[in-house]
Amino acid sequence: MAMRYLLIASSLLAIAAAGTSTRSSTSPGRRPCQGPRERPAPHPHPRQASGSGFQSKNEYLFGKIDMQIKLVPGNSAGTVTAYYLSSQGPTHDEIDFEFLGNVSGDPYTLHTNVFAQGKGNREMQFKLWFDPTADFHTYTIIWNPSHIIFMVDRTPIRDFKNLESRGVAFPKNQPMRIYSSLWNADDWATRGGLVKTDWSQAPFTASYRSFRADTVPSSSGWWSQELDTTGHEKMKWVQKNYMIYNYCSDLKRFPQGLPTECSFA
Ligand SMILES: *[C@@H]1O[C@H](CO)[C@@H](O)[C@H](O)[C@H]1NC(C)=O
Repeated sequence: MAMRYLLIASSLLAIAAAGTSTRSSTSPGRRPCQGPRERPAPHPHPRQASGSGFQSKNEYLFGKIDMQIKLVPGNSAGTVTAYYLSSQGPTHDEIDFEFLGNVSGDPYTLHTNVFAQGKGNREMQFKLWFDPTADFHTYTIIWNPSHIIFMVDRTPIRDFKNLESRGVAFPKNQPMRIYSSLWNADDWATRGGLVKTDWSQAPFTASYRSFRADTVPSSSGWWSQELDTTGHEKMKWVQKNYMIYNYCSDLKRFPQGLPTECSFA
């Protein structure tokens, strides 16, 4: 089933539309900037924006989650399409794919993060090696007790390992739901907030299909999946050629020393 999600705004009216068989909400319950209510209005005229999203009914503890997404085409500056797993509460765990839009012709940024027990700050960002608005592509999260592997069209781009033995928290006790949303983040998303959403292009639409959650552990398959040599090679290729930010290289940000997991890449 294909679903389409819209982000719409105008000076008078806010509408959000979502697919039929999933829950939808105009407040996807996420992060500070969901609408003008929560920040000072940057515009001389009152404006209302609304995002749109859906979440899974079920909660999962580990699994392999696939989603095909076609991102907002054209001028998508200021929009963020998020696709993530999250548990609830102040010490929540979270595994994020976020797509930061851009003006026509400029590349999207794929932003990834992992939160464990409420602590994130593990951003890695990538450019993509294709136009993510031209067609559907498969974005996968493999989450098992030893690894969180992010994949794009089956190519691994990031492997967050369980390093609990070294004192690094790893998400493994809190069941998560799957969320997706399309929202306005023009205060930070595109060139750090310099490029604003062009509301004359609204509604903004991202499309989803072929959602698949494989959450039944079996002795083979995702439950014990880790990168083999080919997988490592591919991930190296992506990180060498397409990674544009890695928290593990950001010495300025961590003057006291890089996070522990950074020494085990
Ligand atoms: C948008 O394009 C500009 C210019 O290529 C680039 O610097 C920026 O990282 C791109 N992505 C975002 C989300 O701003």
